[in-house]
Amino acid sequence: MAARIIDGKAMAQDLRAKIADAAAALTRTTGIVPGLAVVLVGNDPASEVYVRTKSKAVVDAGMRSFDHKLAAETPEAELIALVGRLNADPAVHGILVQLPLPPPIDATRVLNTIDPGKDVDGFHPVNAGRLATGLPALVPCTPLGCVRLAKAAHPALAGMEAVVIGRSNIVGKPLAQLLLAENCTVTIAHSRTRDLPAVCRRADLLFAAVGRPEMVRGGWIKPGATVIDVGINRVAGEAGKTRLVGDVAFAEARQVAGAITPVPGGVGPMTIACVILNTLRAACAALGVAAPDL
Ligand code: GUN
Repeated sequence: MAARIIDGKAMAQDLRAKIADAAAALTRTTGIVPGLAVVLVGNDPASEVYVRTKSKAVVDAGMRSFDHKLAAETPEAELIALVGRLNADPAVHGILVQLPLPPPIDATRVLNTIDPGKDVDGFHPVNAGRLATGLPALVPCTPLGCVRLAKAAHPALAGMEAVVIGRSNIVGKPLAQLLLAENCTVTIAHSRTRDLPAVCRRADLLFAAVGRPEMVRGGWIKPGATVIDVGINRVAGEAGKTRLVGDVAFAEARQVAGAITPVPGGVGPMTIACVILNTLRAACAALGVAAPDL
């Protein structure tokens, strides 16, 4: 039987509507409109699309978007000075510096200057450390979205075998921490893992975050497993066009899996919704108001 398709687009719409309601309630009670500053350096076309999508989602949720577009040649010190001003601006509750940053800017040095309370990407070492030690934290948006998608198939994840392919600071590592906090048994696999297909076949929950088009084959999947595909890869399609595919060979995988996210329409929209969710959470924390449980 073909897998159930987990509809990330519909889930994201639903979450965004709830966030908008909560933001409106916060504004009614405090007079404060949550604000997100989005910083784009250079003109990477994919980043321009992401940034526009995020800014629109912020505005759609009744929040304020402060967009900063800087030239690719912007010196690192100038970018850090902008982050400093955003840290000090009470109208800005969240700061997002779009990656990748053009060379020779050192992304780590820039991200580490963001006030951890405004770090809606959850990339600051303070937030990474808080997540790893079970303290309240701003958590990276893609992993947050992945766990919500997995819970659509299995509301209780405790005791499940989870395999995460990919060990990035943005997805793999924080996702593993979130799954551990859900009491999963977690394996992080990566480019040096021996017999990756066999490791994947252990997974009740398989998360693919490697950035290699259709690498995960149907035969790597345990029958009935839930597959969350984080990959967004543009490949050559028909008639000279391009198309988006994930890290999972979807047509094969859906014949074996119990539930699977599509690309597009899976993790991507949930990531955007979680940026807005983190902005709301950061605003609530700044105002000393309990964040709604969404
Ligand atoms: N570039 C690719 N993914 C991300 C992300 O999650 N956050 C930011 N800031 N940049 C990215």
